[in-house]
Amino acid sequence: MPAGIKTKLDPIHQAFLEDAIALFEGTRYGHMSPWLYGREGAPWWEAYAENSTAAAEETLLLKRLVKSKPGAITQATEVIEAGPGAPKAVREETSRIVRAAPHAKLYIPIDLSDTFHASTADEFGKNFQDVTVYPRKANFFKRVPIRRLLKNPLLVCMGLTISNLPCNVEEESPHDVLVKALKNLKATAQHKGHLLVSVDAHNDGKDVVANYDSVIVKNFYLSLITRMIHELGLKGARESDFDYRPVWDKKHDLLSHELVIKRPLHIRLGHRSFRLKEGHRLRVNNSFKWPNGFFQEAMEDAGIPPDIKLQTQRRRVTLYLAPNEP
Ligand SMILES: C[S@@+](CC[C@H](N)C(=O)[O-])C[C@H]1O[C@@H](n2cnc3c(N)ncnc32)[C@H](O)[C@@H]1O
Repeated sequence: MPAGIKTKLDPIHQAFLEDAIALFEGTRYGHMSPWLYGREGAPWWEAYAENSTAAAEETLLLKRLVKSKPGAITQATEVIEAGPGAPKAVREETSRIVRAAPHAKLYIPIDLSDTFHASTADEFGKNFQDVTVYPRKANFFKRVPIRRLLKNPLLVCMGLTISNLPCNVEEESPHDVLVKALKNLKATAQHKGHLLVSVDAHNDGKDVVANYDSVIVKNFYLSLITRMIHELGLKGARESDFDYRPVWDKKHDLLSHELVIKRPLHIRLGHRSFRLKEGHRLRVNNSFKWPNGFFQEAMEDAGIPPDIKLQTQRRRVTLYLAPNEP
C-alpha cells in the first residue's frame, strides 16, 4: 500500500474496495454511484448540474409543488434527505422545501460524499440557524438507522438519484431491486411521514446518449479511477487508460455509463490483481429511464402509493409524493 493508504480500512472504504473489486472482476456492475462523488468527482458533478436541463425542470416542479402547500411539507417536523449533493441543489431545492416546512426543526442529510456533507452544512447553515443538522454518512439504498425518534418526517430523494439504482440487469430484476430500495427509504423514515422522490422519465435513447456524451461527464466518470488510486491504492492504471462511453440499453430502459479500457492493463487492488484486455468494458453506473407506469407500480408494491404526481410538459422528470404509512 502507498503512503497515506491505511492497511486496515474503515467500513466505508472497505465497502468501496469491495465494490471496486467486483467491478474489475465483473461480478457486479452498475453499482458504483455511491463512490463517484469524492473530492475528485464532486467538482465535475457540480459543473454538470450547473447546466443540467433535467435539474432545471425538477426545480420547476418543486416550485409548483411547494406553492400548492401540501400537508406533507407544511406539517413535516423533520426533513431527511437522501443525497443532497452540490450547494446549488441545496440552495434551490433543499432550502425551498425546508422554508416551506415551518415545523421542521431537524434536517438529516444522508450522503456518502464528504465533500457534499461539508458544503451542505455550509449552505444549509447560512439559511437555517434554528434547524439542527444531523448528518449521516451511509448508503441510503440500504436502511439507515436514525437514532432519533421521528414524529412526522419528510424524506426527499431529488436529483433523479433513485434512477442510479445499483442493479445488475442481467441477473436481477430492476423492479424487485427498486421495490427493495424504496422499502429501505421507507424504513429509514421509520415508516412515518412522507416520501418525495424525483425520477428520470426521459427515455428517447438517442437523445439520452447525446445528453451524457460530454467532456464534463467523461471527466466525472474517469475521476473514479483517480479516487481509487488515492483512497484504495489502485496500481497499474491511470485515467488516461480509459475512455468513457454512454450506452443505451433499450430493453431495460437503461443508460449504462461505461469505462472502456484503451490498452491491456495489469491492475492491482487490495490483495487482488486483474489482467484486462483492450476494449474491456467496465459498467460503472446506471441511469434508468423508466416509463412512468413502471415507477408508480414499484412505489405501490413498496407500500407507498403516490398521491401526488407532477410532470413537466417535456415529460423528462416526474415528481412523486407519497404517504409513508406502516
Ligand atoms: C445524483 S446526485 C443528486 C444530488 C442532488 N440531490 C441534486 O438534486 O442535484 C446524488 C447524491 O447522492 C449521493 N449518493 C449517491 N449514491 C449514494 C448512496 N448509495 N448512498 C449515499 N449517498 C449517495 C452522492 O454523493 C450525491 O450527493
